[in-house]
Amino acid sequence: MMKVCIIGASGKLGKYMIQHALDRGYEVVGVCRERSVSKLDAFKGRINIVPGMTNDRAVIRSAVAGCDGVLTVLVPWGSDHYASGTAQAVLDFAKPGARLIFSCGWHITRDGKDVYPPSLKREEKIVRWLTRIIPFADMDDQVEACRRIFASDTQWTVVRGSDLEEGESQGLPVWSFHVGDPILASNITRRVDYALFMVEALRNNALIHEAPAIVGCRTPSALAYAAAQQYEMKK
Ligand SMILES: NC(=O)c1ccc[n+]([C@@H]2O[C@H](COP(=O)([O-])OP(=O)(O)OC[C@H]3O[C@@H](n4cnc5c(N)ncnc54)[C@H](OP(=O)(O)O)[C@@H]3O)[C@@H](O)[C@H]2O)c1
Repeated sequence: MMKVCIIGASGKLGKYMIQHALDRGYEVVGVCRERSVSKLDAFKGRINIVPGMTNDRAVIRSAVAGCDGVLTVLVPWGSDHYASGTAQAVLDFAKPGARLIFSCGWHITRDGKDVYPPSLKREEKIVRWLTRIIPFADMDDQVEACRRIFASDTQWTVVRGSDLEEGESQGLPVWSFHVGDPILASNITRRVDYALFMVEALRNNALIHEAPAIVGCRTPSALAYAAAQQYEMKK
């Protein structure tokens, strides 16, 4: 049995990840802000909860102890280096060899080779402008968090999510190395399937030191890509 820690467990993505982990028989430790513990009532008795801010190093140290995998929801909220503090604590305290899976958006680039659609660039500009006026989030800190992860020699994977929607699972999302690759063009993933990809990544060693950008497997761009592959194979 695998023991996994889910950091940011009380959010939408976190709760889906808890369910996928429990479905696989994993022992689950969840970290969430004290005021959000009640959001996890549905899992009472089935998971251990460590209440606290996810950038509190003592909280993370105790939560990840003995875990074979750590699933971290990296969020850019606030203006006190919440994302980088969270990532750094996980990198510092997870047991050597543990699989570390982090979530973020397409806006994170690992090698600068992503090609962003104009709509995404506009969206980022608006968010940056808004957060300069009201500092409710710090996009650059999520970028810094990922920079530290990419530089780390831990067994990390950074899963870059497209736009998200709710709805029933459609299956494991497909992925590509760079935003702009045709398979990703639809730019939409069910949140439940994003969580599925995160949990499956724990046991997928091919994803170690990769930053897959994902998209729903039943989206038009994913289906068109699969059809083109099949056509090539038949030729
Ligand atoms: N939303 C999208 O369209 C989208 C697109 C691509 C990628 N992503 C990525 O997907 C992941 C999950 O994002 P989500 O939008 O789906 O959110 P989510 O799953 O609902 O998670 C939000 C998380 O942020 C925490 N949080 C909220 N306000 C906070 C604050 N002021 N200080 C500290 N923590 C706070 C929540 O904790 P509480 O339960 O305590 O409030 C929760 O753990 C993120 O890594 C995000 O970058 C999202």
